[in-house]
Amino acid sequence: MRTKVIAANWKMYKTPDQTRDFFRDFLPLVSDHTRDEIVVCPPFLDLPAALESAKGSNVAVGAQNVHWKEEGAFTGETSVVQLVALGIHHVIIGHSERRQYFGETDDTVNLRLKTALEAGFTPICCVGEVLEEREAGATDDVLRRQCTRAFHSISAKKAAKLVVAYEPVWAIGTGKTATPEIAAEAHAVIRHEASRIFGEEFASNLRILYGGSVKPENASALMGQEEIDGALVGGASLDAKSFAAIVKY
Ligand code: PGA
Repeated sequence: MRTKVIAANWKMYKTPDQTRDFFRDFLPLVSDHTRDEIVVCPPFLDLPAALESAKGSNVAVGAQNVHWKEEGAFTGETSVVQLVALGIHHVIIGHSERRQYFGETDDTVNLRLKTALEAGFTPICCVGEVLEEREAGATDDVLRRQCTRAFHSISAKKAAKLVVAYEPVWAIGTGKTATPEIAAEAHAVIRHEASRIFGEEFASNLRILYGGSVKPENASALMGQEEIDGALVGGASLDAKSFAAIVKY
């Protein structure tokens, strides 16, 4: 049995005060929840407030990105060393918004992923096709390419904590969710690729999350698929009640 991960991606939303308010409302709603791992990934600026608020709770706090160098002249970037100093051990890598708007490539995803794994983080590595790729029947190829490049020269041993998120770009923030069957099919492709690269045993333990317009109303149908090992939730994670309802699907 793979323990599910329900992760919140807050993107560029909330101030430190709003972060504290969220945790004040959210923690009591999930305090008895032991079935799944819960992770909240706020903007960098909110990490101290989130960590302080979540201290001693069953909710982990993660970052939304990490650079591959320990330090250096990289304006606007954040290193593993800096995140570890705060007490962060989870990080989202290769989100489609990074790929679409900030020039993230399969190669930079690979660099970030290697560094995060090396530092003992639990990375949530995002892959997913855009609408034109799905319509052209290229989804499986895209997922295979993204996985192959992201996992390049990483050993199964090093990758032990890896979590993958399948996020079809056409479903992110659009209200269009992949049907549980579409998601399960894509997850199977990713698991197959992981098996080819890291071996069968690794692949059977790999947690693959679904992301893209997950809401309280569709969480249980998605999570009911054997292939789906949790969710990466954007919009619906900003509200404590709504995210708690997803956690408790
Ligand atoms: P969404 O975002 O839930 O708002 O569609 C998901 C994500 O981008 O991780």
